[in-house]
Amino acid sequence: MVSSSRNTAVAGVLHGVTAADAARLAADPALSAVIVPDGRREPWLQELAELVSGERLVIPRTTLPSVTPDEFTGWAHTALAGSPASVAAPLADAMAGILARVVDTAGTDKVMVRVFTEAPTRRCGFHVDTVPPQSPTVGAVRVYNGPTTEYVACEDVLGMGEFYTYLARRERLSRQAERERRADGPDGTALAELCAMDGNPSFLRPGAVVRRVPADATVFFRHLDVRRHWSVHPVTDVWIHRSPMRGMARLVLNVSPVPGRG
Ligand SMILES: [Fe+2]
Repeated sequence: MVSSSRNTAVAGVLHGVTAADAARLAADPALSAVIVPDGRREPWLQELAELVSGERLVIPRTTLPSVTPDEFTGWAHTALAGSPASVAAPLADAMAGILARVVDTAGTDKVMVRVFTEAPTRRCGFHVDTVPPQSPTVGAVRVYNGPTTEYVACEDVLGMGEFYTYLARRERLSRQAERERRADGPDGTALAELCAMDGNPSFLRPGAVVRRVPADATVFFRHLDVRRHWSVHPVTDVWIHRSPMRGMARLVLNVSPVPGRG
């Protein structure tokens, strides 16, 4: 049985002190992620959590395919125009700061951003994030409130062959469960199987635990060139992670590098 636990020391994951530690990913191929805590908890984060969980601050699921940090800041000020300035201004700055760090680390000038406020669902289980061919590979995720991202230690993964076998089966089951849900009949077998897969991932060593990112932390992590997805590559080339399966509406920011410096 896999249980969630807070992480202490995990091979492949560095607990950094400042966002500058994201650069360690470029230097050390044995690292798949760097987790950077905020340090002192800023008071606006509590106000933000209350607004998002109460659905008084809502950001519909949005993808910005290619933006600079400055362009993102402009978008964020518009998107947050209806929110209290005490939250909107520091939030826009904080998110733009993560973009700036990804840009610096990747040696590029633009990123793809996915941002939304939503309650977690069972739709998306353990996965790896990918980038287009020949893109830089270090991106970031930040969850601003509610349950945080879950992940596994590289040393706990039996192998990428085992992981992709699991992923392929889970993706099929997830689609089947969605079809069964839309059919609006009695629950089929897919959802029960999906829950069993999520509760006991077959690609993990016996006794392995699922880790959870601490609250108020940003994760800088390795993305995979999409051409290598489904291939048997080193486990440290990816960060295997998932959203929690249930809980309140959360504000989530995903940042992926895109190639080129203009
Ligand atoms: Fe992801």
